Amino acid sequence: MAPLALRDLVKHYRGDGETVRAVDGVTLRIEEGEFVALYGPSGSGKSTLLMLAAGLLAPDQGSIVFDGRDVAAFSARESAAYRRHDVGLISQEFHLIPGASALDNAMIKLPVLGYTLREARAKTLPWLQRLGLGERASHRPEQLSMGERQRVAIARALVGEPGLLLADEPTGNLDSVRSKEILVLMGEICRERGIPGLLVTHDSDAISCVDAVHTLRDGRLLDPSEAGS
Ligand SMILES: Nc1ncnc2c1ncn2[C@@H]1O[C@H](COP(=O)(O)OP(=O)(O)O)[C@@H](O)[C@H]1O
Ligand SMILES: [Mg+2]
Repeated sequence: MAPLALRDLVKHYRGDGETVRAVDGVTLRIEEGEFVALYGPSGSGKSTLLMLAAGLLAPDQGSIVFDGRDVAAFSARESAAYRRHDVGLISQEFHLIPGASALDNAMIKLPVLGYTLREARAKTLPWLQRLGLGERASHRPEQLSMGERQRVAIARALVGEPGLLLADEPTGNLDSVRSKEILVLMGEICRERGIPGLLVTHDSDAISCVDAVHTLRDGRLLDPSEAGS
């Protein structure tokens, strides 16, 4: 497993006359097994930063180094392979397929990674159990609670054994008890698997569940001395 290192990352959006400095010089390193939160208000650049780390967006400047390779320098093909093999991405929206079982939803990436359906099922069921969904494998999303749906989405992100976990407001649709459970579980998984995890959130409750918190404001990380004010 490998750490994730963001260095001097810059991403500006240029509109008609106006430039939004969404990410404006962020340097951050997340170690293997470490679950880190980037905390900031809406519009502070969290989703942009996560998309950069996921290889979904190219930075204007800076590097995103994972496993000795710079994600920012990837070709389109390399970037797609990085997302397929290395990135476990979890978002606020679950994007589950309606009418398909929890199991089918959770294992959807595995055939693309070369697993047979039988192998994919065998690999996915333990994850559903681990996430407390053992009894729900044949349920469809519409038969599941919000918390259960998010767990299916987390299983889907993890079954391919990604090298890093990226989560954008993953608890945005959950109540505070469920939120905490899910975040604690995500931290446990990062530690167990020795992978770096990055959570971006505007939820001040969420940050009690992580190993370290960095505050983002207008695309920049605040110094710890500024962050409390
Ligand atoms: N595709 C885009 N084009 C132009 N501006 C954008 C785009 N995406 C985000 N922004 C702007 O960049 C800033 C950061 O947005 P975002 O990364 O979504 O922040 P957050 O996730 O913290 O709410 C905001 O001012 C937002 O309006
Ligand atoms: Mg966002």
